[in-house]
Amino acid sequence: MKRELLISGTEISSKVKELGRRISLDYEGKEPLCIGILNGVVFFFADLVRAMTIPYSIDFIRAASYGSSMTSSGNLRLIKDVEIPIQGKDLIIVEDIVDTGHTLNRIVKNLRGRGPRSINICALIDKRERRKEEVPIDYCGFRVESGFLVGYGLDYNEQYRYLHDIYVLT
Ligand code: IMP
Ligand code: MG
Repeated sequence: MKRELLISGTEISSKVKELGRRISLDYEGKEPLCIGILNGVVFFFADLVRAMTIPYSIDFIRAASYGSSMTSSGNLRLIKDVEIPIQGKDLIIVEDIVDTGHTLNRIVKNLRGRGPRSINICALIDKRERRKEEVPIDYCGFRVESGFLVGYGLDYNEQYRYLHDIYVLT
């Protein structure tokens, strides 16, 4: 498949540092639990938390993937749940890209039912075109209108995660 450069590694890196700074200011005096949605988020997640200057803990959730298709079915199936109890915690849910919004909304609903003190969402990319459910993204890296994006952890059928920049498949 052909691809076109969309966001350079340099742009990603400065944006992620900025998000880390903003989160650190907003959470001053708190110790949030950062929850990454596996697998695509791992590159972004590791860079983001290392740009934070406050204490935090980390955990991960894995929802069933799309397989080789490019759209989300709307049903949430958890393959891996968080292991740290989240009751009373300030959660920051970290996602690579929000498309229809189904995955994130289901995860937020599920986590909210377990009594955390607060939930905020941080997403590297907010992809608008196919949004079906509004998702309140508190910390957003980049807004894009459409296209299937790969690189910096984002995959198409497990390919292209290794790329340092983000590309759109054409
Ligand atoms: P949603 O439930 O439709 O919002 O799907 C979100 C999930 O689908 C993301 O966490 C990604 O794993 C995947 N996804 C959606 N769009 C893209 C894309 O353009 N490139 C790679 N993965 C994507
Ligand atoms: Mg994902």
